[in-house]
Amino acid sequence: MDKIVIEGGRRLEGKVRINGAKNAALPIMAACLLLHGPSRIKGIPDIVDIRTQIRILENLGGEIRYLEDGSLEIIFRDGENKEKVTAPYDLVRKMRASVCVLGPLLSKRGNAKVSYPGGCVIGQRPIDLHLKGLSALGSSIETKEGYVIASANKLRGTRISLKGQYGTTVLGTCNVMTAAVLAEGTTIIDDAACEPEVQDLAHFLNKAGAKISGIGSNALTIEGVKELHGIDYEIIPDRIEAGTFMIAGAITRGEITLENVREDHLAATIEKLREIGVEITTNGNYTTVKSNNDYQPANITTMPYPGLPTDMQAQFMALLCTVSGKSVITEGIFPDRFIHSAELRRMGADIQVDVPYATINGTPFLSGAHVMVSDLRAGAGLVLAGLVAKGTTHIHRIYHLDRGYEQLEKRLSQLGANITRVQE
Ligand code: EPZ
Repeated sequence: MDKIVIEGGRRLEGKVRINGAKNAALPIMAACLLLHGPSRIKGIPDIVDIRTQIRILENLGGEIRYLEDGSLEIIFRDGENKEKVTAPYDLVRKMRASVCVLGPLLSKRGNAKVSYPGGCVIGQRPIDLHLKGLSALGSSIETKEGYVIASANKLRGTRISLKGQYGTTVLGTCNVMTAAVLAEGTTIIDDAACEPEVQDLAHFLNKAGAKISGIGSNALTIEGVKELHGIDYEIIPDRIEAGTFMIAGAITRGEITLENVREDHLAATIEKLREIGVEITTNGNYTTVKSNNDYQPANITTMPYPGLPTDMQAQFMALLCTVSGKSVITEGIFPDRFIHSAELRRMGADIQVDVPYATINGTPFLSGAHVMVSDLRAGAGLVLAGLVAKGTTHIHRIYHLDRGYEQLEKRLSQLGANITRVQE
């Protein structure tokens, strides 16, 4: 197993290119099950979650390869592999997003057998809203031996609300949308997620021949069509990767320019960073983060889009640990998503957690320590803390980071960080 070792204290400077969005790529790849013929998708990051999704789709009969220009070609052919409907436990357990093959499988092959994704360190993560939506479209669903087994002779349009206790559901909206595009009649999804990644999936499907309107709002209308065809498509830039690099610039009091950024997708992150005192300027698809030493503490609440993303919470926590004064974070999506706070405390941070709140009293400095990554974004928060900590930080269990950030240590090192990957 590898670990990351960081000698903190370097000011980061330079330019970094942001990759395509992992959380747009995963459901779009699954949606290729619905399309007849080849699709070529540009901007797919080279990360472990994408490799897992490729294996899942190959198991389902997909022919997948990288082309010379770096795009990923995915081919499913109508009428072939109808009997292949299983997403097995050993792949689904590696990545919850594999659950987004459920809608396409049900729609295209009439059956789906997908391992039930369990809870994880960021919280319970049920899929009841996914199943409620798919049932409303006319599928029968049972849970057997750890699998969701769903079948439908014909899916029929209907009106569904995806409102849950913590708002709507991102992947649930993807599953219901992909099941509805080929259903008979019109489906209205109320309380749909409108995250940029959900919008990207809808744009992808429309380009392939679907009829989805209301994209970007909380009510989607989907008129069923008879068939969808393969297309060329470019994934949106990853707003969470961009936000993570912005905080890398801010926390090291450096100056970084990010290339391939959609500023509109980052509005809440940029607004909060400016409130803290970080200077951010944008020019086309370039964004520059410039820092000073005069940061203010802040109160942060994570919310569904266009609110501040929960996937940026750990990174903001790391930054606020270095800002003198009291900051409060309210986690509005996954109330238990604070495991990283215990690791940050090992580095000298002063954080009190009383779910769903974390109160942070900024300390003059963090110090290097051995810390353990519990999930992808927690890992990003720990790397950011390590960049500014005095001394050496050893970050263990970095396979979580490899799931979602392409060559993170290499790109940070190109910006001037003293960071290396070491075999333990
Ligand atoms: C997506 O997960 C993302 N994953 C997560 O990013 C992200 O944190 C999350 O959306 C919220 O933005 C991918 O896109 C692959 P949800 P998802 O269903 O769709 C509750 C990362 O690090 N809920 O929107 O699984 C749920 O418990 C990952 O890249 C139900 O109650 O999240 C949570 O409180 C981590 N019933 C809330 O809704 C359901 O059926 C939002 O979860 C589904 C969800």
